[in-house]
Amino acid sequence: MTAATAPIRLTEHASCAGCAAKLGAADLATALGALVPRPDARLLVGHETFDDAAVYRISDDLALVQTVDFFAPIVDDPFDFGRVAATNALSDVYAMGGEPMTALAIAAFPAAALSMDVLGEILRGGQSVVHAAGALLVGGHTIIDTEVKFGLAVTGRAHPDRLLTNAGARVGDVLVLTKALGTGLLATQGKRGRLSEAHAAGLVRSMTTLNDVASRAALSVGARCATDVTGFGLLGHASHIARASNVTVRIQASQVPRLAGVAEALADGARTGGGERNAQFVSAHVQWGSATTEDRAVLLDPQTSGGLLVAMSADRVVDFIAACPTAVVVGEIVPRSAALLEIA
Ligand code: CO
Ligand code: CO
Repeated sequence: MTAATAPIRLTEHASCAGCAAKLGAADLATALGALVPRPDARLLVGHETFDDAAVYRISDDLALVQTVDFFAPIVDDPFDFGRVAATNALSDVYAMGGEPMTALAIAAFPAAALSMDVLGEILRGGQSVVHAAGALLVGGHTIIDTEVKFGLAVTGRAHPDRLLTNAGARVGDVLVLTKALGTGLLATQGKRGRLSEAHAAGLVRSMTTLNDVASRAALSVGARCATDVTGFGLLGHASHIARASNVTVRIQASQVPRLAGVAEALADGARTGGGERNAQFVSAHVQWGSATTEDRAVLLDPQTSGGLLVAMSADRVVDFIAACPTAVVVGEIVPRSAALLEIA
């Protein structure tokens, strides 16, 4: 790309993906209350269970998986931003047990303020990830806006009898997490100019790792419940599983993996608005146990392109970790108690 006169700070925008510029879960639930449900046997997964993508049965062995996600830059490099946004959008197909087939780009761009080469780099980064996922970028839509935003609408396929939904967890299942937490806290440190190069590289590496391996591993061990951990944080997404499956999710806080640099970010006072919204959303539903202040911040940290949280029968965990070596056991599914979430 042509050199700009000054370094481009894509993250100098009013909102921030790392602070979960998306609506909080409570506000979203209020808005969705305006929708009129239309029951249809072909719709296998709709929006009611806060699942990652909609699933529509076409035939006995084929279902369509559809999702869309886009946000403002979380990193300054346009190519990396495109990769992160695409990895994040594709993740919702993997979180349902699907395989992505096609993707449409959706982009907002300040055409008067930034060179078109920047948009080209964002698109090129996004396409590289779509291709790595075995899918095709087949079109898209752009608008002029005051700040950059980019993402994908993704169409995938799945087997109707082998879906990974929020409602599929059973008492006795073990919970595994396939990526370390802390992308919100590290991105905030980056915006403050207080993230080391090594930690920044680790952040981008994590956010550009596809959840394809994790998804196939989940299907291979017969798992029926998974979600990807994104803006609502580990506890927000775990609460969706608890509600949809009518169980309580117990998390071992000390077992939850953290990205390199998260401890330093917390010690340095990093906070995110999204983390505070997530805390308000789950506060009535969580027993904190002996969780430390740092544990709470990590468990509530809004993730961008986070890993899969998968529930599976205990005797398949070894096989899952063999197929997805980054996975860590973080908890278990227990009978519904007074709280949706118990932290041990
Ligand atoms: Co999701
Ligand atoms: Co999403």
